[in-house]
Amino acid sequence: MFSIRISFLHKFLCTTTMASQVMGGTRAAHVFSMLVLISFFVIAAEGAIEEYAPMKILMDEWDIRPPSWVGSDPCVGGWEGIECTNSRITSIALADMGLTGRLPSDIELLSELEILNLSFNKGLKGLLPASIGKLTKLVHLNLVGCSFFGRIPDTIGSLKQLSYLSLKNNSFNGLIPPSIGNLTKLFFLDLSDNKLVGSFPVSNRTAPGLDQLENARHFHFQNNQLSGKIPPQLFSSQMKLIHVIFDRNNLTGSIPSTLGLVQSLQAVRLDRNSLNGSVPSNLKNLSKIAELHLSNNQLTGPVPNLTNLNSLSYVDMSNNTFDVSDVPSWFSTLLNLTTLMMENTRLQGEVPQALFSNYNLETLVLRNNKINGLLDLETISSNHLQLIDMEKNFITDLKPTAGGSNYTLILVDNPICEGTNMANNYCIVSPSNSSNLIPPSNCASVACSLGQVSSPNCTCAYPYTGTLVFIFVSFSNLGDFGYYKTLQESLVSTFQSYNLPVESVALGYPTFGSSYHLELFIQVFPSGQDRFNQTGASAIASVISNQTLLRPRFFGPYSAVFPYGNSGGGGSKKGLIIGAAVGGSVLLLLLALVGVYALQQKRRADEQWSRSIPLSGISNSSASAPRLKGAISFSFEELQKYTNGFSEANDVGAGGYGKVYRGILPTGQMVAIKRAKRDSMQGGPEFTAEVELLSRVHHKNLVSLLGFCLEQGEQILVYEYVPNGDLLDSLSEN
Ligand SMILES: *[C@@H]1O[C@H](CO)[C@@H](O)[C@H](O)[C@H]1NC(C)=O
Ligand SMILES: *[C@@H]1O[C@H](CO)[C@@H](O)[C@H](O)[C@H]1NC(C)=O
Ligand SMILES: *[C@@H]1O[C@H](CO)[C@@H](O)[C@H](O)[C@H]1NC(C)=O
Ligand SMILES: *[C@@H]1O[C@H](CO)[C@@H](O)[C@H](O)[C@H]1NC(C)=O
Ligand SMILES: *[C@@H]1O[C@H](CO)[C@@H](O)[C@H](O)[C@H]1NC(C)=O
Ligand SMILES: *[C@@H]1O[C@H](CO)[C@@H](O)[C@H](O)[C@H]1NC(C)=O
Repeated sequence: MFSIRISFLHKFLCTTTMASQVMGGTRAAHVFSMLVLISFFVIAAEGAIEEYAPMKILMDEWDIRPPSWVGSDPCVGGWEGIECTNSRITSIALADMGLTGRLPSDIELLSELEILNLSFNKGLKGLLPASIGKLTKLVHLNLVGCSFFGRIPDTIGSLKQLSYLSLKNNSFNGLIPPSIGNLTKLFFLDLSDNKLVGSFPVSNRTAPGLDQLENARHFHFQNNQLSGKIPPQLFSSQMKLIHVIFDRNNLTGSIPSTLGLVQSLQAVRLDRNSLNGSVPSNLKNLSKIAELHLSNNQLTGPVPNLTNLNSLSYVDMSNNTFDVSDVPSWFSTLLNLTTLMMENTRLQGEVPQALFSNYNLETLVLRNNKINGLLDLETISSNHLQLIDMEKNFITDLKPTAGGSNYTLILVDNPICEGTNMANNYCIVSPSNSSNLIPPSNCASVACSLGQVSSPNCTCAYPYTGTLVFIFVSFSNLGDFGYYKTLQESLVSTFQSYNLPVESVALGYPTFGSSYHLELFIQVFPSGQDRFNQTGASAIASVISNQTLLRPRFFGPYSAVFPYGNSGGGGSKKGLIIGAAVGGSVLLLLLALVGVYALQQKRRADEQWSRSIPLSGISNSSASAPRLKGAISFSFEELQKYTNGFSEANDVGAGGYGKVYRGILPTGQMVAIKRAKRDSMQGGPEFTAEVELLSRVHHKNLVSLLGFCLEQGEQILVYEYVPNGDLLDSLSEN
């Protein structure tokens, strides 16, 4: 027998104890039962690959115990987030569960694991253990939005079944391990938003390389510190890549012409590097390409000839030093083009009138060129047009659109704006790249209680909230609600297809933020409840993180940021059931006993600590302590969530007493959280006195106290956030 179930063990223990009692408690009977027990444990220890043991290690490390994790067998009784096949754990999906700690190397014990999704747990940090390479059945490894650092271990190349690998948005550094080239089943590879350095590894006689990933569709490496040339060997006609996303690195050298061999490509982002040389002419072979971003490099040579690339919808080649040229005629022939950005590219001559006969045009940016003569906008046919930006050119004449226009025209810094036209709108306006738009709502009359938000269907609830970031989109008119409406609908139907209780989705505040990728605020509203419980929230996060959301064709792949600590509807770490901690071996039993003892000791200590201060007055029972009305007792894990695990990013200052963090309450209110260092803690009575005092004073020059936390040996005060120096000054005083 390979795996011995705990319940069986439990029964067995009871029976042997009973047997010893039946035998009259004689010494012989005791010896007998001890022997039986010992031999049993030997058998158990030999055969034991008990799934509970590694799970227990993970649970302890991550400090979680969701309410549904009862009993001692993760494969019995519906442990949410865990799936098993033949009593072995095959899937762990714990997205946005507020996990903290490391990924223990004992993860290797879960040798049947196929899916590991720990995305959006900012509190997960440390190195990715080399033992991850032992999980050879892993198909899906998703650690998006955690805080792992150090090198990506070479052993990752042993995960031969892997088809989805995303380590996006951590702090990994060092080189891209060449061994990833051994993952020939890889379909989705995302290492973006890390601190990776060096170049792309390609194969040679002794080592594998990324060029071997012939089944990969996605190479997402944006926003790292990758440098050196893009090796020509990286691309070949055997590859099936659809997205090559390398923007915001330090890549140099020229764009390899082999890129033109990857006929399947739909989106290429090489913008914001230091690429030079001329653009290979065979890019014109990429007949499926829809998005092409080459901006902000040092490219030279002729402006690429994109004639016949009729799928193109978004082209940005701004800020390169191409040869001086006339405005190319292919601009006018690409009928799917929504966006053309050619700022500062040494274009000259007149803009061909034909360009404006494109029905889909939304944005035309030709700032800072040498375009001259007449700008003929008379025959504009697109009613999606939002912006024509011709600032800093040599335009002398304008034929305005017949019948008026509802787009923005910018001609600032052109000869036409000298003299009589100066007061004209188009000689004044400056562009903006964000929009405070939220979809129109029919819920004006709905008044929700504090913290709740009205859904698009006008019900009040606490939505699951975050930001979606699209690595590219094929439109640029951010004010066109049609796009978001279609997306909204397809998101709702995807969530519902996973049986998630989603009532509706609201999207808004589109902006090309500091990432130059489209950022969209998202609120997911629950149906049949006023908020998602932890399981529900986590399931939503995993659907978002594993790219299963269906989306209209004009939205590319996305990632997300959940800054508000959405999950943890309560009690994740409470109710630790130590009684269930009977493991599959003597060692584990002993450990558990030690654990129980330690916990009891700690509890005793905690109790003494809390007894020493009159906590009763601080609770919500305001009757007995009217002076403390308003000060809330927060749990430590709540505060962890609000501060993203007391992350550095939220650290707004420090003093002798400890640190001050910025946090966001579920209501959206910003707070400042002052956490005392161990050695500067006050005695219980002093702390209580401070809480009492602060909660009584509401003076305009003092930030007011909202609550406190006295759990887990911490002394934490939560104040209103005042986002300027005063706050720090007033908090730093003691
Ligand atoms: C890659 O795979 C080959 C063949 O399976 C193996 O010989 C080699 O050791 C692997 N290399 C790495 C770095 O994992
Ligand atoms: C791609 O472009 C090159 C050079 O521009 C040309 O010789 C070749 O035939 C093209 N390949 C395909 C498959 O169209
Ligand atoms: C661009 O390429 C097309 C065909 O691919 C050709 O007809 C046209 O002359 C080229 N334009 C320039 C300016 O080279
Ligand atoms: C071009 O460069 C300027 C100056 O660095 C920058 O402000 C502008 O945003 C860039 N344009 C585009 C389209 O990236
Ligand atoms: C969480 O909510 C789901 C429905 O969204 C429900 O099925 C489940 O039982 C809830 N879990 C807990 C622990 O309340
Ligand atoms: C993606 O997430 C959903 C919801 O948790 C799950 O049903 C689905 O199996 C996941 N897909 C993968 C490949 O993990």
